[in-house]
Amino acid sequence: MTTATIRGPAQHHGGPLRVPGDKSVSHRALLLAALADGESVITNLAPGGDVRSTANCLRQLGVRIDVDGSTARVHGVGLHGLKKPAAPLDCGNSGSSMRMLSGVLAGAGIDATLVGDESLSKRPMKRVAEPLGAMGAKVGTTEGHSPLTVSGRATSTLRWQSIPPSAQVKTAVLLAGLFTEGETRVDELFLTRDHTERLLGAFGAEVRHVYEAPLHSAMVRGPAKLRASNLEVPGDLSSAAFLLAAGAVCRGPGVSVQGVGVNPTRTGFLDALALLDIHAAVSERVDTAGEPTATLTVKPPWRMVGARLDEDLVGRAIDEVPLLAVLCALSTGESEIRGAAELRVKESDRLAATAKGLAAMGAHVRELEDGLVIGRRDQPSKLHGATIDSHGDHRIAMAFAIAALAAEGETTITGAEWVDISFPGFWSTLRELTLGAVRVSE
Ligand code: S3P
Repeated sequence: MTTATIRGPAQHHGGPLRVPGDKSVSHRALLLAALADGESVITNLAPGGDVRSTANCLRQLGVRIDVDGSTARVHGVGLHGLKKPAAPLDCGNSGSSMRMLSGVLAGAGIDATLVGDESLSKRPMKRVAEPLGAMGAKVGTTEGHSPLTVSGRATSTLRWQSIPPSAQVKTAVLLAGLFTEGETRVDELFLTRDHTERLLGAFGAEVRHVYEAPLHSAMVRGPAKLRASNLEVPGDLSSAAFLLAAGAVCRGPGVSVQGVGVNPTRTGFLDALALLDIHAAVSERVDTAGEPTATLTVKPPWRMVGARLDEDLVGRAIDEVPLLAVLCALSTGESEIRGAAELRVKESDRLAATAKGLAAMGAHVRELEDGLVIGRRDQPSKLHGATIDSHGDHRIAMAFAIAALAAEGETTITGAEWVDISFPGFWSTLRELTLGAVRVSE
């Protein structure tokens, strides 16, 4: 087990940074490239454990993927070229791999078992089993969880509304819809991340989006023929968020991160910063792989004020909520985060883990079924060092690293190695950024 020790209050130096490729886009790019005809080259592929899980599962399905640094050459096998795997597909810690692959397997009619680690085996899987079952495949769960067994084939189109809205479920259904004759449609009460729809377009599928209040709908027409594409994955805003937050909470000139994906379905974090009175400057916009990217800069604000973060915003910042809770705890006054019940079924129960960690660092925090109340009216909050368990969750480890930079004294984060799931190199980047405030030991 790796332990990170952080001494606060820390300072940071300036200088532009970059972050690894976006994890969500990387999973999807690998899956679509595998189903395309011909060779696709994907650059700036996310290096973390989750995306490795997707790549390894695809290899087990007969897809050749050569990875050199952050470049992947995917030798697509076409829509009907996947092979039955000889062993269960191991999705590791990755809910995205398991849910999205189940859609591909159901569409392609490949019998397989999908397994995951202890945390993934507790996460809800009925949400993909139901729609894929309604399309004609058989997806067996283990009391609603993995191991998942996929057999049969999705043969009919479907119109499906996933409640709560989930980009992973939407993706599983749309991917299965690539194989069936006609239009498959997913309705959502709010638009979840639309990387799948954008990439499907880039790979030549017939895909469209309509908004008929109150529903956003994504539609794909099958059977599709995907053509190989070369694409560059944008930097991951969900990783950049931690470095930008370090720029807000430590003394220094501010932090700039270049080449970050700013797809509007993902930028709730930037809107939440504005509510906390932290200004994020967005500059140098360019498009890559149908995704907008930009340089983001955050400078330490004069002060941070508590805010109410509602369901709408939380939906567009779903993976940043623990970090936003940390920023709320460092703000003056009371903050409330609501509509975040989904956080209870992520890599850990993120509401419980965040509340526990913040309380250990001296914050005033109350846990609600679907959120958190943090801080006290008219009182600035001060955090002190503590021992924090990552709960085997990459985003909890990184969120509390940022809390530790602003806290008085020393914080120890156990299970620090989990950051490798989405941001290998996080600890060394943070150490360099904060002039050595971070130490890591095995
Ligand atoms: C993801 C969607 C979100 C998010 C996860 C990645 C994706 O999950 O929390 O980290 O890439 O589609 P849900 O779809 O379960 O909300």
